[in-house]
Amino acid sequence: MGRTYFRGTAIATACAVAALIAACGHNDDLQAPPADPDTAADQRAAALVAQMTTAEKIQMVHGTGMPTLGYGTFPADALSGASYIPGISRLGIPKVSSADSAGGVNVNNARVTALPAPVALAASWDPVLANEYGTRIAVELRTLGYAEGLGGGVNLAREPRDGRTFEYMGEDPVLSGTMSAARTVGTQSQKVIATIKHYAMNDQETNRNTADSQVDERTLRETELLAFEIGVKEGQPGSVMCSYNKLNGTYACENPYLLTDVLKTEWGFKGVVQSDWGATHSTVPSVLAGLDEEQPGAADDSNTSSPLFAYFGSYFNTKLQAAVAAGTVPIVRLNDMVQRKLRTLVRIGIMDSPPTAGGAIDEAAGNAFALKVAQQSAVLLKNAAPAGAQQAVLPLAAANLSSIVVIGGHADVGVLSGGGSGAVPAIDGNAVSSCQQPAGQLFGGCATWYKSAPLAAIKAKAPNASVSYFDGNDANAAANAAAQADVAIVFATQWQTEGLDLPSLSLPDNKADASNQTYDQNALIAAVAAKAKRVVVVLENGSPVLMPWLGNVHGVLESWYPGVQGGQAIADLLFGDANPSGKLPISFPKQDSDLPQPVISATDLSVKYSEGLLMGYRWYDAQQIEPLFPFGFGLSYTNFAYSNINASADGAGNVTVTFTVTNNGARAGEEVAQVYAALPAGLGEPPKRLVGWQKLALQPGQAQPVSVTIPAQRLATWDVTNHAWKINGGSYGFIAGASSRDANALTKSLSLAGR
Ligand code: BGC
Repeated sequence: MGRTYFRGTAIATACAVAALIAACGHNDDLQAPPADPDTAADQRAAALVAQMTTAEKIQMVHGTGMPTLGYGTFPADALSGASYIPGISRLGIPKVSSADSAGGVNVNNARVTALPAPVALAASWDPVLANEYGTRIAVELRTLGYAEGLGGGVNLAREPRDGRTFEYMGEDPVLSGTMSAARTVGTQSQKVIATIKHYAMNDQETNRNTADSQVDERTLRETELLAFEIGVKEGQPGSVMCSYNKLNGTYACENPYLLTDVLKTEWGFKGVVQSDWGATHSTVPSVLAGLDEEQPGAADDSNTSSPLFAYFGSYFNTKLQAAVAAGTVPIVRLNDMVQRKLRTLVRIGIMDSPPTAGGAIDEAAGNAFALKVAQQSAVLLKNAAPAGAQQAVLPLAAANLSSIVVIGGHADVGVLSGGGSGAVPAIDGNAVSSCQQPAGQLFGGCATWYKSAPLAAIKAKAPNASVSYFDGNDANAAANAAAQADVAIVFATQWQTEGLDLPSLSLPDNKADASNQTYDQNALIAAVAAKAKRVVVVLENGSPVLMPWLGNVHGVLESWYPGVQGGQAIADLLFGDANPSGKLPISFPKQDSDLPQPVISATDLSVKYSEGLLMGYRWYDAQQIEPLFPFGFGLSYTNFAYSNINASADGAGNVTVTFTVTNNGARAGEEVAQVYAALPAGLGEPPKRLVGWQKLALQPGQAQPVSVTIPAQRLATWDVTNHAWKINGGSYGFIAGASSRDANALTKSLSLAGR
C-alpha cells in the first residue's frame, strides 16, 4: 500500500479489502480520510482480485470474438461492436463492450454523429475542441451502452500515404500527443474508457501484420513515442492498444521494451495494454512482455472452424490457463493484468455506473458540434485575386454573383469520409449508391458519403444566383460552363481506408481508386482552371494531395473529411459566414519523390526509418526541400501581424516566450500562433521543432499579448548513453510565427544551462 490512513497495517489491509464487501464501514475506530482516487481504485481492485477464481481472472483478460463481424457467439444482451468481455455479477463487475470511434461511433444501425476526421481535429490546433470531441463521442458511446471507445489514433504521419492518416493527428509529436490527451480526458469524463493506439511505429498499412519497423532508440523516443508519452502522461487513458507490426524484430504486442520498460515502468501507465485485433502472437512471451488483454480473442478456443479464428487466433484463453497452471505465467502477473482492468473500471467510474444500452442520441446537439468542428478545422491554403481583380477570390460575396458552377466530387449529394474501423456509418444511407462493394473484401471498395450536399448549401447562400452542377465526367462540358460563370467551385476527393495505403498523394483517378473515381481529377481541374474567370478547389481528403494545377486556380480550401455537416460548413467558409482558422498538422509535399521514403515497398518487410529524426517538416527543413504547403500553414480572411518577441527562462529551465499578435484586417478571426525551438548546434537535431502554441480569437484591430510557456522537457533530446532525456546547455532560438515556415516569424535567442 502506498499510504496508510488506518491504525496499523494489518487492520488497514484487512479493512481495505473488507470495505469493498461492506464489512468494515461503520466502525468509527477505523474511519480514515478518503484515499485519493487512484489509491482508492487500486485498493478496491486488489480486493476484488483477491476474491476471484483463476477462471474468472482468465475471463477478464480476453475478448470473446468480434460482434460486428458476427465472429463468436454472444449472449442476447451483448452489443454489436468490436469486442465483448462478460461481467462477473457475483462481484459486481460489469460487462464491457467496446466500439471503434475514431471520428464517431462505428456501429451500424445507430443514428450516431459522424464528426470531421481526427486529422481535421488536429488541424484546429485547439485542445479545448479536442476535449469536447472526446466528450461528444463518449456521450454517444455511453448512450448506446459502450464502456470503451477505440478512438484516439496517435501514430505520426511518417508515411503520409498511410491509408489511416485521416484517423491520426498529423506529423508532430507535441501536437498529436497534446490533442490526444485532451481528447482522452474528454472521453473519460463521461465514464468511458479511452484507448490510444497503435503503439507503436505502425505508420503504414502495407504488410502491417508482418512488417518490422526498424527505428533507432533516439528516433523512437523523440518522434512517435513522444506523442504516446504525452498522450499517456497527460491523458491517463485506461487503455493503450499495441500495434500489429514488429518493432526492431519483435512484435509490438510482445515487445517488453515498449510495453513494460517504457510504458509501464518509465511512464507509470496503470491501465490495460490491449492488443490490436489479431495482433497477439503468443501466450507466455506476450504476457511476460506486458500485454494485459487479448482482442478480439475467442470465447471457445476449441472451435477453430471460422476463417477469422485463423486470422485472430486465441492465446489468452485455455492457453493462458495452462500457462498459469504450469507456472510459466506466474499468478502474480495474471493478478496484475486483472488488477489493471478493474482499477480502470473503478477509476473511470464504470464499476459503479455501468452504461446501459438503448438510449437516444441527441442528433441536434451532435450536428451542431460536427458543424463547429468542421468550421474550425478547415484550412484555407490559397486565396488569390483573379487577373484584373483587386479582391481575393474568397470569401464569395453572394450579392456580386449571378452564376456559380459547382463541379465534381459528388458535391450534389454529399461529402466523403474515410473507411475501415475508423469509419462512421452514414445515417439514412450512403449519399452515393452507384458503387458496388466487391464481395469478400475486408478493406477497400466503396466509400461512404454523408448526405450533406455542398451544392444545396451553396444554393442557399446565393439564392439569387443561378447555380448549376456538373459531375466532372465530362471535363470539357464543365470547363465550358465554368467559362460562362462568375465562379467555378471544383470539389476534389481522395478516399482512404484502413488496410490499404495510397499509391500516391496525387488525386486518385479511376485507376488509383477504381471503385470511387470515374475520371481524372487533375485533368478536370486543369481544364476548368484554363477557362474559368474565378476558380476555387475544395478538397475532401485524409492525406496531403499534390496540386499540379495550383498556379492556375485562385482559391484552395482544405476541408478534410468534414463529417455529417460538411456541406454546410464548406458553404459557410466559402461565403465568409465562418472564417477559416485551421492550420496544417501535416506537410504537403510538391511530389511523392520529395518524401523520405520515395515508395512504399510491397515486398520488403523491413521498414527502415532511415531518415531518423527527420519526420514531417523536420525532413523538408533539414533537406532544404520546399514543400507545397508547410506544416502549420493556413490562411484567414483577415491578416495577423506578429511583433515584439521576448524569451526568458525560470529556475527549472521552463521558457516563456512572449509576443504580440495583431489582427490587421477588417474581420474577426482566429490565429494559431506557433512557437518553434531551434536547439543548439552540434546536437544532431533538425533545424526546429514545435514547442508550443496558442489559438487566439481577435477582433479587427485588436492586439493581443501572447505568452507561451514551454516546459523544459519540450527542449530535451534523448541521450542514448544514459537512456534518458537530457537538456543541453547552449544557445537556443525561439521562433514565433504563423507556420513552420513563416517568412515574417520573429526569433529570439536565449542561452540555457544544461540539466
Ligand atoms: C484496427 C484497430 C481497431 C480494431 C477493432 C483493427 O483492425 O487496427 O484500430 O480498433 O481493428 O476494430
